[in-house]
Amino acid sequence: MNNTNIFLPQSDTFLVTKEHKRFTQFCKACMEDKYIGICHGKPGIGKTKSARQFSEWDIYLQYVQRKKQLTSEQLAILAQCQTFFYTAPVLASPKKTRTQVVEGMIEFADCVREVRKQLGLSADEMVFNYCKMVIVDEADRLKMTTLEELRDLYDHTNIGMVFIGMPGIEKRLSRYPQLYSRIGFAHEFRILDTQQVVPVIEYYWKETGIAIDPNEKECSAAIAAIIRVTNGNFRLIQRLFKQIKRVLKINKLNRITEEVIETAKDCLVIGMA
Ligand SMILES: Nc1ncnc2c1ncn2[C@@H]1O[C@H](COP(=O)(O)OP(=O)(O)OP(=O)(O)O)[C@@H](O)[C@H]1O
Ligand SMILES: [Mg+2]
Repeated sequence: MNNTNIFLPQSDTFLVTKEHKRFTQFCKACMEDKYIGICHGKPGIGKTKSARQFSEWDIYLQYVQRKKQLTSEQLAILAQCQTFFYTAPVLASPKKTRTQVVEGMIEFADCVREVRKQLGLSADEMVFNYCKMVIVDEADRLKMTTLEELRDLYDHTNIGMVFIGMPGIEKRLSRYPQLYSRIGFAHEFRILDTQQVVPVIEYYWKETGIAIDPNEKECSAAIAAIIRVTNGNFRLIQRLFKQIKRVLKINKLNRITEEVIETAKDCLVIGMA
């Protein structure tokens, strides 16, 4: 069993944002054109979450770990999966990383084939009919020699490959001309703009059990404060709402106000954008 076995599926709700749609377009382009693509963006803005959603990774993990039966709808999704999602390890030799990726791709293709057979769909033996792309998350962790191994794997497999990392990864990779010359697309994963952030805030707000009316003055001031504090960063929005819930509970409040947000913000010690 590959290292996928040690990762747990994430069960929280996925919110479809414009940033996710842009990321999906970018991945599809890399897959179709069989290019290497680089996706870069600030921490906590949803790169990993979007990549897992695009590859339907949680459904795959749920299937291989066999802890919970998939629904027929999930099986149908898995039967169409084409992307192997890989998290770059903190410490691993270049050869070991390559082996993990190759074995993971084969295991993934086997699984999709098995599901297709179960559903009575066409299923041949070709790995690359089922694994058409690899997404490498946390690519900043990879040393040059490992990147070279993956570049060589790319040359031998005729699939798309996407590296996800922090801002600056595109500059770092540009120092390796052989890899860089194979890069077809660079994609910046952006923070949520005001238009996108409001529905996200509304979602977490409703989760607190408190009604929201953005047209109401106190409520719109609170929303504006959340935007100001989190700057459209998904991780910060989630963390802020955890604190908001705490503040509401401790103070027995049933309204989210600017004051509540300021108090909640003060509890968030690190990572403010
Ligand atoms: N579209 C989304 N729907 C729901 N939750 C999301 C979404 N995008 C991100 N999140 C949540 O926001 C948090 C941060 O997201 P994620 O880990 O994907 O960020 P990242 O850009 O990969 O950060 P890092 O650079 O630190 O790896 C996670 O808890 C994730 O579940
Ligand atoms: Mg990430």
